[in-house]
Amino acid sequence: MKCRFVFATNNAHKLGEVTAILGNRIEVLSLKDINCHTDIPETADTLEGNALIKARYIFENYQVDCFADDTGLEVEALGGAPGVYSARYAEGGHDSEANMLKLLHNLEEIENRKAQFRTVFALIIDGKEHLFEGIVKGEIIKNKRGTSGFGYDPIFVPEGYSQTFAEMGNELKNKISHRAIATNKLCKFLNSIQ
Ligand code: IMP
Repeated sequence: MKCRFVFATNNAHKLGEVTAILGNRIEVLSLKDINCHTDIPETADTLEGNALIKARYIFENYQVDCFADDTGLEVEALGGAPGVYSARYAEGGHDSEANMLKLLHNLEEIENRKAQFRTVFALIIDGKEHLFEGIVKGEIIKNKRGTSGFGYDPIFVPEGYSQTFAEMGNELKNKISHRAIATNKLCKFLNSIQ
């Protein structure tokens, strides 16, 4: 089995989550570890597209096995929005409070609150591309609850739970999250090709 991969991120939180699942036998390097300081543009209009852009950038420029992820919150009544634009939903971009306010505003008067977080990992190993998906279904509540986590966590209650992601704390969230599901699939695949 190939046991060293570059994860196209510098997000320490994501690195921690992923390395905890992949375990000791798989070494994961960050962009910083390979001296890549480029802010790789995420210009695709799908999660799959953005994950592939980032993984291909690393593979083409550094010739290493690698993987990259992209995540979005897909709201049924909004036709899957904000989806791939989740980080930049409100004007200005990358402001979780503004993003949540915009989403709550757009869902005012709407009964159907069904939503899902979806993560896609793109893996390139020996030049071959593989995609892995993780989905957590749930619903968007009307008022924020909880303080842990990030992004849309305070307004998302996963199916089968009564707490929001922000109320349940990172330990439980990281066990059941969309990223954990996708990472577990990636891990299973890597173990299967050893
Ligand atoms: P990224 O692809 O992981 O950077 O995620 C894009 C955006 O989706 C983030 O900026 C957040 O707004 C949102 N997001 C991703 N994962 C989560 C999560 O686990 N909880 C809440 N929001 C998330």
